Amino acid sequence: MKIVVIGGTGLIGSKLVHLLRQRGHEAAAASPASGVDTVTGEGLAAALAGADIVVDVANSPSFADKAVLEFFTASGRNLLAAEAAAGVKHHVALSVVGTDRLAESGYFRGKIAQEQLIRGAAVPYTIVRSTQFFEFLGGIVQSGADGDVVRLSPAFVQPIASDDVALAMADFTLGEPVGGIVEIAGPERVRLPELVRRWLAATQDPREVVADPGARYFGARLEDDTLVPGPGARLGAVTFEAWFARSRASR
Ligand SMILES: NC(=O)c1ccc[n+]([C@@H]2O[C@H](COP(=O)([O-])OP(=O)(O)OC[C@H]3O[C@@H](n4cnc5c(N)ncnc54)[C@H](OP(=O)(O)O)[C@@H]3O)[C@@H](O)[C@H]2O)c1
Repeated sequence: MKIVVIGGTGLIGSKLVHLLRQRGHEAAAASPASGVDTVTGEGLAAALAGADIVVDVANSPSFADKAVLEFFTASGRNLLAAEAAAGVKHHVALSVVGTDRLAESGYFRGKIAQEQLIRGAAVPYTIVRSTQFFEFLGGIVQSGADGDVVRLSPAFVQPIASDDVALAMADFTLGEPVGGIVEIAGPERVRLPELVRRWLAATQDPREVVADPGARYFGARLEDDTLVPGPGARLGAVTFEAWFARSRASR
């Protein structure tokens, strides 16, 4: 099968392209680096010619509220129209667990818009909602950094390694369109400050973590279970410790 991976040069995209090729498929990475821009539409029709499946794992280069909304809106519209014209049979997108509960956040308003466009389009689809990647921990710490302390909501998280995300994406891509949402997460549910304490200790970062129920997550208030999946989620195998050891060894 011919599979086009939009954002195929990114963290998840590059791993997914590799896995799909290993499984014997023709997988192409499409992104601005290869002349395909879903926001302007440049190069899209040519990239999608003859494609059976399109996977969207692109991300907005800017996390500013307006920029994210514009990115996912323009990108989703252009991509789904080009897929309909090319006769694509399955659209697979990577979203975030709890997206519908996070509308106070500008980033998540962008993801909500992306999901709505997919649901309203004619192309059969699967929306895969993942929890936070371990690789994103640095970004979470940065968002809560306040001088010598890191201030974070005590909500639960269930983070997942990008390798497990790519494996799940490969399976859902090659499966039948679900016509709805599936959830994926890591093996362990833990409160966010506890996870970040472990990460700071492992990286010998002396900053103190303060659990603050008022601290927002990229602009959104969190309840205990906002970021964790419901029952039935597919769980990855890689724990925080295994991921950390592996990522340190590859440095
Ligand atoms: N981070 C998390 O914890 C998390 C959790 C759940 C879900 N997600 C979702 O996972 C997805 C992928 O994240 P990631 O970390 O793998 O992303 P990433 O490493 O930042 O990669 C982003 C990709 O998007 C491409 N891109 C940027 N602008 C584009 C455009 N105009 N047209 C086409 N492609 C464009 C980039 O291409 P170039 O290389 O050419 O610039 C790159 O391939 C995102 O949608 C995110 O919402 C993330």
